[in-house]
Parts: sequence; structure tokens; C-alpha cells
Amino acid sequence: MKLRLIPLLLLLLLAACDKEPETFHVGVSQCSDDLWRETANREMIREVSFDVDLTIEIRSAHDDSEEQIRDVEYFIDKKVDLLVVSPNEATSLTPVVSKAFQSGIPVILFDRKIDSDDYSTYVGADNIQIGRQIGNYLSLLALHANKKTFQIIVIRGTSGSTADTERYEGLLQSIGNTSDVSVRIVAEASADFTRKGASYAMSRIIKSGKVDDSVDAIIAFNDEMAIGVHEALDDLLPDMEYPPIIGIDALSGENGGIDAIQKGIISASFIYPTGGDVVIDVARKILHRNAFDRSNILNTALVTPDNVRILDLQRNEIESKQLKLEEISRKLEDMTTIYGSQRRTMFLLTILAGVILCFVFVLLSQNRRRAHMNEVLNQQNAKIQEQIQKLEAQNNQLVDLTKRLEEATQAKLVFFTNISHEFRTPLTLILGSTDLMLESSNLQNEDKRSLYMIKKNGRKLLSLINELLDFSSYENNQMTVNYSRVDLKLFLEEINTMFMDIAKKKYIRFNFQPSDDSFDIRMDKNKVEKIYFNFLSNAFKFVKEGGNVKVSLTNLADRHRIRLSVFNSDSYIPEEMCRDIFKMFYTGNPLDANSSGIGLALTKSLVDAMKGEIQVESTESKGTTFTVELPYLPPEGAEEEEDHDFSYASPELVSDKVTFDPDVPIEVAPSDNKNATVLVIEDSQDMLNYIKTILSHDYRVIQASNGKEGYEKAVLYNPELIVSDILMPVMDGYEVCRHVKSDEKTKHIPIILLTACALDEQRAMGYEVGADAFLQKPFNADVLKTRINNLLQKKDSLLESSRYSWLVGQENRIPSQGCEILDKIVQYVSDHLEENISIDDLAMAVGSSRANLYKRIKEVTDYSPIDLINLLKIKKVLDLVLYQHKNITEAAYELGFSSLSYFSRTFVKYYKVSPRNWIKEHYGDSTK
Ligand code: FRU
Repeated sequence: MKLRLIPLLLLLLLAACDKEPETFHVGVSQCSDDLWRETANREMIREVSFDVDLTIEIRSAHDDSEEQIRDVEYFIDKKVDLLVVSPNEATSLTPVVSKAFQSGIPVILFDRKIDSDDYSTYVGADNIQIGRQIGNYLSLLALHANKKTFQIIVIRGTSGSTADTERYEGLLQSIGNTSDVSVRIVAEASADFTRKGASYAMSRIIKSGKVDDSVDAIIAFNDEMAIGVHEALDDLLPDMEYPPIIGIDALSGENGGIDAIQKGIISASFIYPTGGDVVIDVARKILHRNAFDRSNILNTALVTPDNVRILDLQRNEIESKQLKLEEISRKLEDMTTIYGSQRRTMFLLTILAGVILCFVFVLLSQNRRRAHMNEVLNQQNAKIQEQIQKLEAQNNQLVDLTKRLEEATQAKLVFFTNISHEFRTPLTLILGSTDLMLESSNLQNEDKRSLYMIKKNGRKLLSLINELLDFSSYENNQMTVNYSRVDLKLFLEEINTMFMDIAKKKYIRFNFQPSDDSFDIRMDKNKVEKIYFNFLSNAFKFVKEGGNVKVSLTNLADRHRIRLSVFNSDSYIPEEMCRDIFKMFYTGNPLDANSSGIGLALTKSLVDAMKGEIQVESTESKGTTFTVELPYLPPEGAEEEEDHDFSYASPELVSDKVTFDPDVPIEVAPSDNKNATVLVIEDSQDMLNYIKTILSHDYRVIQASNGKEGYEKAVLYNPELIVSDILMPVMDGYEVCRHVKSDEKTKHIPIILLTACALDEQRAMGYEVGADAFLQKPFNADVLKTRINNLLQKKDSLLESSRYSWLVGQENRIPSQGCEILDKIVQYVSDHLEENISIDDLAMAVGSSRANLYKRIKEVTDYSPIDLINLLKIKKVLDLVLYQHKNITEAAYELGFSSLSYFSRTFVKYYKVSPRNWIKEHYGDSTK
């Protein structure tokens, strides 16, 4: 279905729905119902039948004016479109006809008139003229009969009707005008245009004796009345040869004027045309608002026996034509009816077709739309498929690239880690050789300075490598967080001690200001150590002589954060640089042109790993504050680390990071174990030689180049101590440890593991397999020697080495022969160490009163009895740690200390340093 069919459809619809033409209703009021009226009515009906827009209703008043008035009123009420009136009488009908006209109904006066001009037009013959023609015809008859006088009888129509009055007027005018003949009316009567009326009137005239041979003609004002006259004469004067009877109308058909002339009933008649067709024709013009004449006069003519036959033939011919016309009209009407019904059917069919077409159109357009949408969807689908394929290809490429990138990253990481590890060994050798050279006494000052410089830079390089390794492990998401329980305040205090010397040297006021909160928390000590150490290193690096470094530590419990800030005076970092200062390899710090750009980036990565935040604030003329906020983690559930090894923070590193002066070499105590045998297991010949060089002065050194050989030599030579590398071919250091420690013959031999790897896990694993100490490459020769020395001395009890050494700071006050009261106290406390010892119990045990006990103790020491109990307990803790390999926490709990921090505080009170530092100082890093 094409869209162009729609207009056609609409046209069809319009045609089908074509409005019915306006129909006009014509009302006809006839005064009478005789042949003439019937003829006129038939003509009107026939004429109307040719028009589809005209209807006609005819009413007859039966020659009664009152009835005709009612008929006109009826048509007014009916609001006919046009009124045709043939008034019975002029005067009585005038008001109602005027009313109709005044009400807007066009009025056609037909055949007769009214007394006013309230009508639209007149259709009919000129009755005056007919009257005149009758007069003229009478003159003609007189002339023909050669008479000078001509006597007539006149039978008139309905009195008061214009047909009657005008015909009479015309007759009088005519007979009055003739000079040759004198026409005289001898008798006249009114007969209402009816046969009966005329017959009756004529009878009376006959009976009055006025009818005799002298009467030349009888005039009747219509043929009906002329026939009535003939009947009266026939009835009353049958033998008389009566005069010519002249009528009016000359109608065809039976009893019509034509028939009467042909039968000799009447002599002549004047055609008075019925004109029904003319009436309708004029009515049509009026109704269609076409021009029309005010007066439509119909022609008239004389009919005599001379022309009656032709006229009759003509009339018959016309009549048959009329009948045919009527037949055609009827057929037309039938056709019109059929057409009407077909049109209605067509209309319905068109509507139906329209509905179907609309439906089909909607369906088709929906189909088309659906097809279009399908097409669009298919295209989109194809595009999506194409995109999916592209994406898949890209994804595959990405996966491939990611894989390759991961491989490359992994390779880089391995390479980077390996190379960094590779750096450590030569660095160790450089540093070790430097140490050896520095020990040589015959060095010039200048050489010594250079050597210190080499040593310092070597250490610096090593520190950088370590930092890089840390940072790379963060970058590769390999930085793990290992929490343990710690008293952060004490922890930081221990690191602070490393900066005391430099503070003193530079006249720096170094304030540590922890808040009163508890800092017993969970924390990754290694990371916090590095962060804090870097903060302090920076602070001491940039503070000027006489300046100050301030550390504040706050527990922001409400925000579940711990805040640590390190402030140093004298330095300023512009705001725009503060943003970048934590970026890797950022070297824009104006304060530190030589910065590697690693330290703060590493610090930030450590903070990030612990989900903390780091920031720097700097104010010109005041100073710079580095602040770190870490999540506050309550201590519950965390294992207390047995002993934290400050592997990063060291006085040496302070010196490297903070000062530019060559280091002061560390004095090493000479060894007491000259004859001891040390087995060194190391696959690197250089390293082996180096260690041998370090140790050969003080020990007998046996060497092995791999783990297997080392273990065999341990069994064979039973050395006093083993120093072993970890990463070795055939058998690694862990295996050596495991073998040695599980063999009855060798298990007593202390082992020190050396490794180039700084990772915590390796260290933990070393302890797990039974290593007694752990030393990270590069190591300081003196540290190695001290570590060996301490391990060799472990067999001796601390108490044996000095009877009153536990009396820290006051052991020398005890007389050489000893002190009885102290010995008694030692005895009692040693027996009840794990109990809660009261002073009263102690006094009783030593056989003294409480007051006397104080007095007796005061005589030999400034300590109180409580101090003595504490000191003896601390001594026992140290014994457990040093000789029974217990960790500090475990040992402290065993002796009744409620927490590690309480023990630490108690320890610091007497020893002035933390337990770890004390042990480290006196025994090296030999504890776990
Ligand atoms: C019919 C008729 C005619 C006559 C006419 C005059 O009713 O009597 O015969 O000519 O009326 O109005």
C-alpha cells in the first residue's frame, strides 16, 4: 500500500459522504378541486418530480375560503420554503397570504390574485384580456350573423374572485368599445365556476323567460359552467335551437372543454392555461435565488370547432409525451432511489474500506518500522560484534602485554634485587678492607681521612641500596606489614639515644615530648624505625648549631590515630615543593642538593603500607615539621616481639646521614679466646679471605667453601664456633644450621649466619633453624669479632663473672670480703623470685626488723629493699635471656613483671638504657 492512495481514499470518503442537497418544501393551497385544478396539480407534481430538491404538498379548500385560510395557516406553521396560493376569494384570503409573505415565505399567486401586493409573483393568464377576447369574439359572431345588436347571457364565476371580476371587467370593456355591434347582456348570474351552480343559474334564467330566440350567445366564465348551461337548456328547452355557448379553459380529456366542443355541447372556449409547470419553474427560480418576473402571464387562445381537432391532437400528443415523461421521471426516481441506496452502500463500503485501509496502513507501517528497527538492530549488533571482537583482540593483546610486562617487571625485579645483592658483597669487602687498613697504626693522617671517607661513602651507598630494595618491594606490592606489640614511647626513646651525641656536638636542644597517653600498641617496628630514623636524620641534618629538634607523640584515640611529628628549626621548604618532596628521585629539595631522592619516598611508601598519612609543613623563619599519622591499633592479640633488632637505625648511619665528618673508629676489646677454633663456611673466596683476615689474629680459622663441606668439617674438627654464609651451592647456610643443631656432637656449637639479604623472612628463618646470631652483609669487622667473642663467653654465668654486678652502679661500694646482709637477701630473693616478695617477709628471712633492714641496707648501698628485689629480678631476666635463649617478654613475665613496657621502664631506671641496648652493648646482637 502506497501513501499516495490515501488522498484517493479521502476523496472517495468525501464523495460518499457528500451532503444531501438542500430540500425545499413547497406548499400549494388550491381553492377548488375540479378538472382544471387536477390538471394543474398533476403538472406541478410532474414538474417537481424532475427535481430532487423539491417536495410538494397540495391542499384543496373545496371552494371554501375559510378552509383555505386554515390551509395557508397550516403551511405557515410548517415553515414551507414557498407557498403557492390560488385564492378562492381575494378579500377574505388577503390577510393570511400577507402574513405568510411577511413571515418570509415567498408566495406565488396562481390563477387568482389578492387585494394586496404582499406576494412574490403571479402566474396565470390575463383574465381581463380573456374577458376582452370574449367580447371581440362576440363581435365577430355578430358580424358573421350580420346583426347590429347582439344579446348575451353571462354566467359568472365565484363572486369576489379576481378571475371572475377581471374576466367580467375585460368583457365589459370589450363590448363597450364595439361601435359596429351592440352587445347587450340580457341576463347574468354567479355560479361559483361549478357545473351544478351554472345549471341551476341557467335554469332560473330560463324560468325567468329571458331565454328565447333573441339570445345570441351564452357566455360562461369556464367550460364546467358552459356544460351546466347546456344541460339546463337541454333539460328545460329541449326543442329549442339554443344559441352558442362559449366557455373558458379548453381543457383536454373527458368532460373537458375540447371534448365538449367536439361533442357540440359548447360552441367555443378560450384556452385558460393551467400552467402548473410554469408555477414550479418560477418557484425553482425563487428558491434558488435566481431572477424571476413579478408577473408571469400565460397565453390564451380561442378554440372553436374549426381548430378543436388539431388542438385535441396536439393536446393528446403532448399528453402522451407527458405520460412518457412521467414514466421516465418515475424510472429516474427509481434510479435515484437505487442510486441513493447504492450511494449509502458505497458510503458504508468506503468507510469500511477506509477503516481496512487505515488498519492495513498501520500494520504495514508497523511492519516497515519493525523491519527498519530490525535492520538498525542488526547493524548495531554487527557493530557490537565487531567491537566485541576488537575488544577481545585488544584484551588479548593487553593480557599478553600485561603478562609480558609482569614477566619484564619480575625479571627487572629479580635483576634489580640480584644486582643490589651483588653490590652488597663488594661493598662489604670494600668496607671490611677499609676497616682493616684503618686498624693499621702506621697510616698517615691524610690516608686515614681518605679511608674514613671511603668507609663513610661505602656505608652510604649500602644504605641507599637497602632503601632502594625496600622501595622496590613496596612498588611490587611485596611489602608486608608485620605487627607486634610495642611501647612506642620506649621504642622511640631507644632511637633517640642514637642522636644524643650529635645533639650534644651541635648544641642542639633535642626534646622528646610524648603525651601522657598509653602507647602500648600494635605496630610494624621495622617500618616505624625506618620512618622515625629518617625523620630524625633529616631534622638533625638541617637544624643549625644551637637550634632545636622537637618530637611530639600523641595518641589521637578519638580518631583512632597515632601522630608522630618531628620538628626542626632553621629549615624551610617552599609550599610547591612540599607537594613533590615524597616523590621518588625528587631532588628539588633546596635544603639538600645532594639528596638521592629516595629517603622520603621510601618513608612515604612505608607509611602507605601501614595505611597511614604523611605530610610536611614548613614555615619560613620557623622550621619544618614532618608528621606521620598511623592507625591506632590496640595491643590486644599481638605477639610481643622478643627482641627488636635495630638493623636500620644505627649510630653509624646517624653519622653517615647527618654529619660530614669522618667517623671515629670503634674501639674493639681484644679477644680472650685466642685458642678457639672458628669454622668459616663461605663460597666466595674473597669473602672467605676477608673473614679469615679479620679473625686470624684472634682465632684459629678453618674454612669450607660450601655447606656440605662445612658441616663435615664441623663434625671433624668440633670448632668452638661456626660463621656461615646463607646462599651457597650444594648445601645452604640454613641446612648447615639444621644439621649442626640436630647432631649431638655439634649441637653446642654456636653459629653465626651471614647473608647479603636484608629481608625479615630470611632472618626469621635463620633463627628458626637454630642460628645463634645473625649478621647482615656488609658487616663491620669489629661487630663480627664482638659477636664471636660474646658467643664464646656465654658459658659463664653473669653472676659468676661478678658477685655483686647486679647492684648496678654501686657494685664497687661492696667491700671485697662481701656483705652478709646482701648475700642473705640474694639467697632469699633467688629462692622466691617468682613470688610476690613483701618487705616484711624479706626482713623476717634475713632475721631483721623492717626498720633495721632499711638501716642495714643503707650502710652498704643507696638502694632500698624494693630496689634490691627489682635488681635481682632484672638480673634473673637477663640470665634467662642470655643463657636460656628466652625472649625478654617471656623472661619478664616469668619474674612477675606485668608487661614488657613495665619491665623496660624498671630496667631503664637502674641501667639508664633500654634492656635491648644494654644487651647489645654488652653482648652484641646475640639474642633472638
Ligand atoms: C377552476 C376554474 C376554472 C376557471 C378558473 C377561474 O376552478 O373555475 O374553470 O377558469 O377556475 O379561476
